[in-house]
Amino acid sequence: MSSAIDPRIEEKPLPPGQNGLPLIGEALQVFGDRNFTIARHRKYGNVFRTRIFKTPTVFVRGLEECLFVLRNEGHYFQNSLPENTRKLFGEHSLANSTGTALAHRRKILSRSFRPRALDSYRKYIEETASRYLRLWAERRDIVMYDELSSFSLDLAWKLFAGIDNASQSEVGKLLKTWFAGLFSFGPIFPGGRAAKAFQARQKLFDFIRQEIDRRRLEDDFGVDILSILIQSRDENGCELSDRAIVDILLNILGAGFGTMTSALTSFFLLVGQHSNVEQKLRAEQDELARAQLPRADTIDRMVYLEATFNEVLRLYPPIAAGFVRVIKECEIAGYQIPEGWIVIWSIDATHLGIENDPNAFQPERFLSSPPTDFIPFGGGMRECLGREYARLEMRVLCSKALAHYEWELPRQDFTMTTLPVPKPKNGLKVRFRQRGEKQ
Ligand code: HEM
Repeated sequence: MSSAIDPRIEEKPLPPGQNGLPLIGEALQVFGDRNFTIARHRKYGNVFRTRIFKTPTVFVRGLEECLFVLRNEGHYFQNSLPENTRKLFGEHSLANSTGTALAHRRKILSRSFRPRALDSYRKYIEETASRYLRLWAERRDIVMYDELSSFSLDLAWKLFAGIDNASQSEVGKLLKTWFAGLFSFGPIFPGGRAAKAFQARQKLFDFIRQEIDRRRLEDDFGVDILSILIQSRDENGCELSDRAIVDILLNILGAGFGTMTSALTSFFLLVGQHSNVEQKLRAEQDELARAQLPRADTIDRMVYLEATFNEVLRLYPPIAAGFVRVIKECEIAGYQIPEGWIVIWSIDATHLGIENDPNAFQPERFLSSPPTDFIPFGGGMRECLGREYARLEMRVLCSKALAHYEWELPRQDFTMTTLPVPKPKNGLKVRFRQRGEKQ
């Protein structure tokens, strides 16, 4: 515990809010009521206090407030993941690394997301997108979340670890199982989601370790992330251990496929529900096709598609919030935030806190004066490394889908579930066909 509290902070009031019931605080509302945070922010502003079981917890929204938290990790805050999540990521993962180790690991990985590396991924992403789109049109009735999960999984395993057609193999299923249990809270029950995720993690560990051994034995190093990790050294100049390589690779594979599956599914959902947006997106594609530019040039000119993707991420951010623990008392927006408390910096509440019709799907807002309260990729020392890769994958798949295919959403329950990522309850049933083809 720190010895003395800064008197300038001590004189500030605690954030407004309520403690709830004696033993559980407001845990039931926090976990059970999707509108809880939004309603409390409406009542109290950008910072409010509650209690989850015994832990005093502060919810924070707003660009400035969230960036304060994100930029002060190691100073006022420490990343604080739930226990199962921490173990499932592994101790060497980025999620569990801090300080110089985190900075060093991010530096190693950043090589795989530079413009030249992204250019080298483009051809494979184009081919894979074309293959999946053809397949969906042949099948006609598909569950979009499952299909996009296979699509993103194939890309991630191939581009980051050199494994072909992962979605059709055991490793693909294992990664999905691991990801599905990543955010399970509380005790682990045999046969439950968390238990399955731990088993999947062990099998993934064995599989990736064999692949590391094979590459070392055959002296076969490519340019993918796995090879970069095998040949890298840690911040002390030592080779990375197999365990560290597996933890970091799993972190990237999970980030690369989980967030993308959610973001792309939300794109097909929201565009499918808004024909005015769909028409504008198709008109942009048709105009670019008439200009007959090389594909690499057209892809950077899809201004309305880019605005639509931003609006999708605003309404359904794949990562909704982050948790940190306060390690030194500080002040946020004029309130005292005591040491030992938990702070939840909220992306979705930040996005829905804007003034102008926050719940409406309006890509145009990103063309005129984009909302500043927009942080889908986080910020500070953990800002998303895969941001440009995400934009590339989205642009390639969605532009092809809009130019050559159409989709309808049959009657269904569109309720969204939130963990581990936002997803329509039944995975989003879609009727898919070639553009212009009869129903
Ligand atoms: C639309 C898609 C995506 C969204 C919305 C997204 C969002 C985020 C957010 C909010 C963070 C910060 C997390 C934190 O502060 O704790 C983050 C970190 C990160 N993301 Fe993404 N991400 C996306 C796609 C990807 C992809 C495709 C990859 C990899 C191929 C990736 C790799 C990473 C990595 C490596 C980190 C850093 C983790 C750390 O330093 O702890 N992301 N992402």
